Amino acid sequence: MTTFPTSFLWGAATSAYQIEGSPLADGAGPSIWHRFVRTPGLTKDGDTGDVACDHYRRMADDVALMKRLGLKAYRFSIAWARILPEGRGAVNERGLAFYERLVDTLLENGIEPMATLFHWDLPAALDDRGGWLNPEVADWFADYASVLFRRLDDRVKLWATLNEPWVVTDGGYLHGTLAPGHKNRFEAPIASHHLLRSHAKAVQAYRALGHHQVGLVVNIEPKYPASTTPLDLAATRRAEAYMNRQYLDPVFRGRYPEEMKEIFGEAWPDWPEQDFALIRQPIDFLGVNYYTRNVVRHEETSWLLKTVPVRQTQATYTETGWEVFPQGLTDTLVWIRNRYGDIPQYVTENGAAFYDPPAAPSGRVADPLRIEYYRWHLRAVHAAIEQGVDVRGYFAWSLLDNLEWSLGYSKRFGIVHVNFETLERTPKDSAKFYADVVASRGAVLATTEPRDAP
Ligand code: BGC
Repeated sequence: MTTFPTSFLWGAATSAYQIEGSPLADGAGPSIWHRFVRTPGLTKDGDTGDVACDHYRRMADDVALMKRLGLKAYRFSIAWARILPEGRGAVNERGLAFYERLVDTLLENGIEPMATLFHWDLPAALDDRGGWLNPEVADWFADYASVLFRRLDDRVKLWATLNEPWVVTDGGYLHGTLAPGHKNRFEAPIASHHLLRSHAKAVQAYRALGHHQVGLVVNIEPKYPASTTPLDLAATRRAEAYMNRQYLDPVFRGRYPEEMKEIFGEAWPDWPEQDFALIRQPIDFLGVNYYTRNVVRHEETSWLLKTVPVRQTQATYTETGWEVFPQGLTDTLVWIRNRYGDIPQYVTENGAAFYDPPAAPSGRVADPLRIEYYRWHLRAVHAAIEQGVDVRGYFAWSLLDNLEWSLGYSKRFGIVHVNFETLERTPKDSAKFYADVVASRGAVLATTEPRDAP
C-alpha cells in the first residue's frame, strides 16, 4: 500500500519573481532580479520576469485552478520589494494587499498557504548597501519578516524564512550565474553566514509575534562517491559539506562542517562564537527541495571544490541535465532524520523539466516522463515515511511553467502548461495524475502500472 496519512499536505509550489509579472506594480521597488535580467547576456534570450505568468493579475483564476486540481496546500513566496520598496522603512500597503488577497482566496478555497519570505528577489535598494554581505541585513530581514508575521500570522500557519541559501550564495556570489552575479570566493562564505543570521533573527521575531510554525527551506543533493579510493571519498565529503551540511550543521549543531576551511582556504573567515548561539534557534520544521543526486569524483584542476560530477550512462536525465534518481529522495529524508533528529519535514519542492511544446493547441499536454518522475519520487517519500521519518507534506515544483531564472522560459517545470504568447493555462497529464494521487492519498501510486524504476 502507498496510502499517505490523512493529515498529509498535498501541494504545489511557485515563487514570486518566477510567476507574478508586474514587478513594479502598485508601488513595488525593483529587486536584484529586476536588475539582473536587464543586464545584457545574463539570461537566456534576454528573458525577464516583467510578464512571467501574469499571476499578479490572474491570481484568483490560478487559485481556482488549484482548487480544480484538488490541491490541499500552496507554497508561494512574498516579494520583499513589494512590501518594503526600499527594503526597509515604509510599508507599501498596496503590495501587502496582494498577499492578503492571495491568502484569503486560498483559505476560501480550502487551500493551506505556506509562505516563503525570501525566494531570491532581494530589494535592489538593499543590494546597493551590500545586500547579503552587509551584517545589518539580518535586522533588515527580521523587520521585513515582522511586518508579515503581524499582518498574516492569523491566517498563515506555515512560514519559511529562506529558500535555498546554498543556491543564493553559490549562484549569486561564487559563480555569478544568478543575481546579484558576483564571482568571488571571499564573498560567498560571508553571504552564507549573514543569510543564516538573517534566518535566525526572523525565527526569533516569529517567537515574539507568531503562533504557528516557522522553518527553513534547503536544497539537498545527496552525494555518492564514484569509487572507494581515498581521493574520491574525500571529494564526496567536501561536496556534501559544501552543499548539504553548510547550512544544516550550523542550524542544528551550532557549527560549520570542518571541510569548509579546506574548501575555501584563506577565504574562510573565523566567525564569532556568539553568532552560532543565534543561528541555532530551534525551528519547527525543515523544508527539503530535492531534484537529483550527484556521483562525485576527485579532480585536482576543478575550481573550487576539486570535484566533478560523473555522468551515469544508464540513467534518464531531465532537460536541466539532472539525473532522475528517486532513491536519493528517500536517502535524503532518512539522512536528515538520522543526522539532525526527528524534526517534521516537508518536501517543499520536487519536480522535473522535460520538453513540452510552447503551445497546447489540442487542449492537452502529454508529459509521460514527468508522470513517471512524480510517481517514483512520491513512492520514495512514502518509503521514507515507512522508515519512520516524519514527512508531513509534499509540494510539486511547479504549479506553472515559469521563469527558470537565468535559463529564462526555456525549461518547463510546471504540472500546468503556460503558453507564454497567450498566457493560457492547460493542465498537463501530470497535473491530472497528481490530482488522482491527491484524491486517493497516494493509493494510485501502487495500482497503476508503472514502468521500471529508474
Ligand atoms: C528553486 C526554484 C527553481 C527550481 C528548479 C529550485 O532550486 O527553488 O526557484 O525554479 O529549483 O531549478
